[in-house]
Amino acid sequence: MPAFLPHADFPYTRMRRNRRHEWSRRLVSENRLSVDDLIWPLFVIEGTNLRQPITSMPGVERLSIDLLVEAVRGAHDLGIPAIALFPSVEASLKTPDAREATNPDNLVCRAVRAVKKAVPDIGIVCDVALDPFNSDGHDGLVADGYVLNDETVEILVRMAVVQAEAGCDVVAPSDMMDGRIRALRAGLDQADLDHVQILSYAAKYASAFYGPFRDAVGSNGALKGDKKNYQMDAANTEEALREVALDLQEGADMVMVKPGLPYLDVIRRVKDAFGVPTFAYQVSGEYAMLKAAAQNGWLDWEKVIVESLIGFKRAGADAILTYTAPEVARLLGKR
Ligand code: PBG
Repeated sequence: MPAFLPHADFPYTRMRRNRRHEWSRRLVSENRLSVDDLIWPLFVIEGTNLRQPITSMPGVERLSIDLLVEAVRGAHDLGIPAIALFPSVEASLKTPDAREATNPDNLVCRAVRAVKKAVPDIGIVCDVALDPFNSDGHDGLVADGYVLNDETVEILVRMAVVQAEAGCDVVAPSDMMDGRIRALRAGLDQADLDHVQILSYAAKYASAFYGPFRDAVGSNGALKGDKKNYQMDAANTEEALREVALDLQEGADMVMVKPGLPYLDVIRRVKDAFGVPTFAYQVSGEYAMLKAAAQNGWLDWEKVIVESLIGFKRAGADAILTYTAPEVARLLGKR
């Protein structure tokens, strides 16, 4: 050993010093995942005391309204700020004109009323798109194999108004039609619903990661073709920025990037470019792949969900929709 080490050729800066102890790692940690960041998506079905497992999403169930209310109560007790509701409606109610979407007593509106009454302080987000009610499985009306834009937007506005009248706090259009944010804002305001927020699925990609979700809401079998002529191409980022810019101009209160994990770069660019509330969706396929590997014993479930969600925070997401919300809230509470 020499008496002293020449610094020129020896590490003077040792990055590992700050990592040596847990207390130090905590002090230098740059991003934090908190229960305040979580939105829990839930699937609702008709019936009472009914829970149906979703094969491609082990651990996630469709719940009848009574059980849904109990689940939401639990989420509220864990400190989860908001839930997102997705109806799985019976095939007999799915029509080419998706008329059930605008029925003020449809499944999702009844679920909203029940949740609002039992757990008034939790935020309720409702998806606005026709796919749960459309026999074609598409997010809008289909004519000659093509999804019609303006005709769809008209229905989406009526759909959002009935959801908001039922007590939904945030309407979240996930359909990717053009001009729908402006139309929704106008429609809500005209109906004296100017307090209702709009969370725009602004950069929503035509993704194969939605597969398990389509099983969950029963639109998979019905879906004819794919959604590539309205959802975005996975290759594009500049286009995502234009989508976000338009939706903000049209009146969106928050914007979303979806899916999450394969699109973290898009989250970062949206956050940097606009500095607005930017949400991300850890979608069904992301949940399914982590869960499947964990069930095989190949990944440590608790560690990979927390690691994947902190990745969203690092990318700049303000909030994350995740099917793991209650589990993560519990894990964070334990630390
Ligand atoms: C409906 C909608 C979809 C998702 C949320 N809203 C599916 C789709 O666009 O086909 C996907 C959510 C998930 O995969 O977890 N428009």
